[in-house]
Amino acid sequence: MKTYLFTLLLISGASFGQNQLAIPPTIETSNINLTLQEGVTQFYPGINTNTMGANGALLGPTLIMTQGDNVNITVDNQLSDTTTIHWHGMHVAPEDDGGPHSIILPGATWNPQFTVLDKAGLNWYHPHLHMRTDEHVSKGIAGLIIVRDSEEAALNLPSTYGVDEFPIVLQTKGFDAAGEIVVHTELDTSVMVNGTVDAYTDLPAQIVRLRVLNGASQRVMELGFSDNRTFSLIGTDGGLFTAPLSATRYRIAPGQRVDILVDLTTSLGQNFQLMSYGSELPNAIYGAAQPGMGAGATSSLVGYTSNPLNGNDYQLLDITVGAQTASPVLTIPATLANFTPLLEASANITRDLTFTSAGAMGDLMGPFLINGSSFDMSTINYTIPLNNVEIWSLTNQTPISHPFHIHDVQFFILDINGNPPPPELQGFNDVVLVPAGMGNVRFIAQFNDHANDSIPYMYHCHMLTHEDMGMMGQFLVVDPQAGIEELQGENKELIKIVDYMGREVLPVNNTPLIYMYSDGTTERKFHFE
Ligand code: C2O
Ligand code: CU
Ligand code: CU
Repeated sequence: MKTYLFTLLLISGASFGQNQLAIPPTIETSNINLTLQEGVTQFYPGINTNTMGANGALLGPTLIMTQGDNVNITVDNQLSDTTTIHWHGMHVAPEDDGGPHSIILPGATWNPQFTVLDKAGLNWYHPHLHMRTDEHVSKGIAGLIIVRDSEEAALNLPSTYGVDEFPIVLQTKGFDAAGEIVVHTELDTSVMVNGTVDAYTDLPAQIVRLRVLNGASQRVMELGFSDNRTFSLIGTDGGLFTAPLSATRYRIAPGQRVDILVDLTTSLGQNFQLMSYGSELPNAIYGAAQPGMGAGATSSLVGYTSNPLNGNDYQLLDITVGAQTASPVLTIPATLANFTPLLEASANITRDLTFTSAGAMGDLMGPFLINGSSFDMSTINYTIPLNNVEIWSLTNQTPISHPFHIHDVQFFILDINGNPPPPELQGFNDVVLVPAGMGNVRFIAQFNDHANDSIPYMYHCHMLTHEDMGMMGQFLVVDPQAGIEELQGENKELIKIVDYMGREVLPVNNTPLIYMYSDGTTERKFHFE
């Protein structure tokens, strides 16, 4: 039985705004060194908490990249634990993606190099070790990646980091009585922004841009401001919208990002708060009063009902509006990016993914399954021909909503429960919240540029407890041409093909097999015809 630091609860009535918001430093060069390290952080005065970070004790630097850059990243693992680092949202080759197959042993380095193909957007990096993602993320390893491009540069959006453009990493964590971070807990009662609890900041009286990540392990947040002011949504996960949308709320699920402009030009001296309106979250979403559907829907989530954040409104950031900066941005552009969503008619295939619970009916603990299976490192769930345009149809037969994430691509949502997505979900996304209780989301994506016949990409629920417990699958993107060229160019003969048991087999589709050559070399390959 664990006891929890209930004294740390941030419930309404407690004092807010005591700590100045931390702003992670940036790395803007194309040679990037990230050292993963253990350290100690005082989230609360006098309480030392063991944490992990990149280039520091907690979180990591914000990487600022420009489309077309050739980046060379060295990840030096100085943790006493194996891990991986994944570039969430970025369109990189499978071998550079940092999924669970790309492990970095303690003391080892990993050196992905890639050209930034992404549009301007907000991505992030975090560990992705199989069954241990939540542990490494909760303990503190996560950082932002801001991608810029020429289309965005022409818009005169606020883009001076820390001056008129602010990183906002939203997280909740649970602590035990010793002040240590608890992994896989429903008592994530501490709210932090950029690792700062009770955070306050000054923002200048001009157009200010908030680059928001929900980096929480499980919690969905309903963003808004305490004075109900309107803000402009200008983009989601993978890029800018075609035009700003005005809103007073934005629902953000774990893994998702949102790009927000707030007009503070006439707000000098005002004080207001960035909030999560948890009381407005519909049930069957983690963060609502009832995280599941049906009577007794909380009973299987230990501690959920005693977490004061659930179903309640709580403060994220205390904001005071101060003086304008030099050359402030004072207007919001009427139009933003230019893009054409993929058309449904262009799809080569529809894949159906059904989420079920392996537990009892109505069980919110999971483990949750995708098409009846739990994640298996050695099973490839899908093999996708390079350049395929695919519709993925996600059906959620469980009583809780799941934020589904796919690597490699940004997708366009075709419909949610049969209806066209609301305007704020019509841009580039790599995470989508799939409604509970037979909810359905269909998205369309193209799998271009990168192929690898042995290293897969992942898709999974971004509630890290669910992911760690196996709500994940993997797919290869294969280039049918590549294998042929490869064999022609080499001076060795194929002797036999064996499976994982060492049994000689004929090449079959959909199974990665081991190819043994005359020169004694072997290769793990996927057969594609
Ligand atoms: Cu942010 Cu596979 O994850
Ligand atoms: Cu990802
Ligand atoms: Cu889930």
